[in-house]
Amino acid sequence: MTCYQDMQQYLTENRFTWLITGVAGFIGSNLLEKLLKLNQRVIGLDNFSTGYQNNLDQVKDLVGTDHWNNFRFVTGDIRDLETCKDICESVDFVLHQAALGSVPRSINDPILTNENNVSGFLNMLVAARDARVKRFVYAASSSTYGDHPGLPKVESIIGQPLSPYAVTKYVNELYADVFARCYGTASIGLRYFNVFGPRQDPNGAYAAVIPLWVSALIRNKPLYINGDGETSRDFCYVDNVVQANILSALTARKDAINQVYNVAVNERTSLNQLFTMMHVLLVDKFPHLNTFRPEYADFRKGDVRHSQADIGKARELLGFEPTHAIREGLQSAMDWYVADLSKRPDDDSSGRQAV
Ligand SMILES: NC(=O)c1ccc[n+]([C@@H]2O[C@H](COP(=O)([O-])OP(=O)(O)OC[C@H]3O[C@@H](n4cnc5c(N)ncnc54)[C@H](O)[C@@H]3O)[C@@H](O)[C@H]2O)c1
Repeated sequence: MTCYQDMQQYLTENRFTWLITGVAGFIGSNLLEKLLKLNQRVIGLDNFSTGYQNNLDQVKDLVGTDHWNNFRFVTGDIRDLETCKDICESVDFVLHQAALGSVPRSINDPILTNENNVSGFLNMLVAARDARVKRFVYAASSSTYGDHPGLPKVESIIGQPLSPYAVTKYVNELYADVFARCYGTASIGLRYFNVFGPRQDPNGAYAAVIPLWVSALIRNKPLYINGDGETSRDFCYVDNVVQANILSALTARKDAINQVYNVAVNERTSLNQLFTMMHVLLVDKFPHLNTFRPEYADFRKGDVRHSQADIGKARELLGFEPTHAIREGLQSAMDWYVADLSKRPDDDSSGRQAV
C-alpha cells in the first residue's frame, strides 16, 4: 500500500469539508472530481476569469448525482475579503488554486496579476487563519526558481524571478511562511512544474504548450516551437498534482507542515522530444500528420531554459510517488484532448508555444 492509497482509503471512511478556490479551472476541477469520488464535501469558489462552467459540468457527469450533491459552488472573487471570510467558515481544508497563471500575461499586465495572485492570496490566507482551518494548501510555482541554473531544482535554492508572475508566486510563499510564525497558520506550498491533463484550456493567447499543440496538430495549423526546441521542462500529469494536494492536506507529520515542495516527476523533456511524443500518439488517427513539421520561432521573454525537479523532499516528507510519467500522462490525456477539441469551434488560435 502506498501512502496515497492509505489516505484515499482513510477519506472513504471519514468525511471532511474542503474548499477549492479556482474550482472551475483546470487543476481545481481535477481536485473536485477526485474529492467528490472519495465521497467528500466540497465547496468551490471561482470568478470564471479563466475557468469554465463546462469544466464543472464535466465533473458532474463523471461523478454522478449522489456525489455531485456534496458540492456547493459559489461564484465569487478572492479579491474580496468578505467573500473569502464567508466561504472559509466551517471548512477543514483549503486547496487554494485561484490565480492568474501565465508568464506572458503577467508581463503584459503585472498589476492585474498582482491583484489576483498577491492581494487575493493574502485575503484567502487571512480568511483561513480566522476560520482556523486545519490546513491551507496552495499552488506555488516552479517559476520561483527564476534564473538559478542548477538542476535538478531543490526547494532551498532559488534564483532571481524572471517575470511578475514568478514574483507573485514567491510572495505567496513568503506570506505563508510569515503567517506560520506570526499566527501559527498551518500551510503547505506546492511548486507545480508544467502541469497537463484533461480540462486544460487549449484556447486563448495564454494557453499552455500541450493543449495548444494538440489543437494545432489535429487541426493542421502551424505549430511554433520557441527557440531551438532544446528548452526543457519537467511535465507533470495532473493526477500527480491531485495526489500532492491530498497528501499535503492530510499529512500528520509535524515536520512536513509549513514547507514548500516540488510537484513534478523528476524527468526532463525537451520541446523537440515533446513534439515527437505527441506526434507519435496522434499520427495514426490523423493521416495529415505524416507530413506535418513544426516551425521554429524566437526564444520568448521570461522563459527559463531548463527545468527539472528534485522530488526527494515530497517523497520523504509527504510520501509523494508520481503515478504518471509524461508518456503515461500524454496517453491518458490524449483521448480527452481530441474529444474536447472536436466539440469546440476552431477559434483560430495559433500554435504559438507557451511553456
Ligand atoms: N497549470 C500549471 O502548469 C501550473 C504551474 C504552476 C502553478 N500553477 C498554479 O496552479 C493554480 C491553478 O492553475 P490552472 O492551470 O488550473 O489555471 P486555470 O486558469 O485553469 O485555473 C485558475 C482558476 O482560478 C480562477 N480565478 C482566477 N482568479 C480568480 C479570482 N480573483 N477569484 C476567484 N477565482 C479566480 C479562474 O477563473 C480559474 O478557474 C494557479 O494558482 C496557477 O498559478 C499552475
